[in-house]
Amino acid sequence: MSGFHFARPTGAAASRMVPAALLLALLLGAMPTARADTREEIALSLAEMLRSARTVISANQALINDPAVGDKGLSGDVVLQKTRAKYSQATSQDPGEIDPNSLHGKLLRALMASITEVMDENQPLLNEQGVAFKAFLPATFARLVTERFRSKAGADAVIKVTGPDELVRNRSARPDRWEQEQIESVLLRHDYPKGQHFAMVAEDRGRRALRVLIPEYYTESCLACHGGPKGEPDITGYPKEGGRVGDLGSVISITIFD
Ligand code: HEC
Repeated sequence: MSGFHFARPTGAAASRMVPAALLLALLLGAMPTARADTREEIALSLAEMLRSARTVISANQALINDPAVGDKGLSGDVVLQKTRAKYSQATSQDPGEIDPNSLHGKLLRALMASITEVMDENQPLLNEQGVAFKAFLPATFARLVTERFRSKAGADAVIKVTGPDELVRNRSARPDRWEQEQIESVLLRHDYPKGQHFAMVAEDRGRRALRVLIPEYYTESCLACHGGPKGEPDITGYPKEGGRVGDLGSVISITIFD
């Protein structure tokens, strides 16, 4: 195979050049990159933070509903700390390390502040002794947090927990026309892959945006309130929806404006 070889630098120059190139590569790799997260990544990150917070409330539901306990120890700081731990676990990223000057960092911090504020404002309700059911549920908490987020960051992004129109309880959670269309034609399609999010450039409130929908499904624990018999009141007084395990019961809808 003589004559079939690649040209290589030879001699002393080569022995200096290779380490220099390596060093440069290492330096570049170690340098903080200014890579901006895409809007889709930002939307999914916000959803993960909201879900993490909701999971913390859900895990403490029995405590929240316990009439014998006064101070539940669920201050804004405590709930945020637990939420951040869950978020870090799910995403392998410490939210504190996301550049606070980036859109991602700003929105995530606005969401974290919303979580803290909603918890702090609800301390009197949560800590009231002698009352069992306080109607402080994961969905209620999520609605309060997303409303607060809108007042902080609504010009840049909107987070909403909605669902198929006929299942939605709170008027403010009703899907808009675009959401209902995508829920019907995409998320409810029989062959749509379960759990997969859906993203599309579309208008929201007359502005161009990236809109992302994340489907969630009823589990056994949801059916105490959203299951059957359809129409019968649940513990909160709302008529049950007649849902079944695996039904599309919830859609996290996130808009990131242009
Ligand atoms: C204790 C009863 C109860 C349980 C259990 C429950 N929910 Fe709800 N859910 C409610 C109530 C009440 C609301 C209205 C909350 C509000 O806006 O204040 C609600 C609201 C929602 C919403 C927001 C849209 C709307 O209808 O206003 C979604 C989505 C939802 N629930 C899904 C679920 C899922 C999924 C589960 C299980 C993981 C679940 N819920 C478990 C009572 C319950």
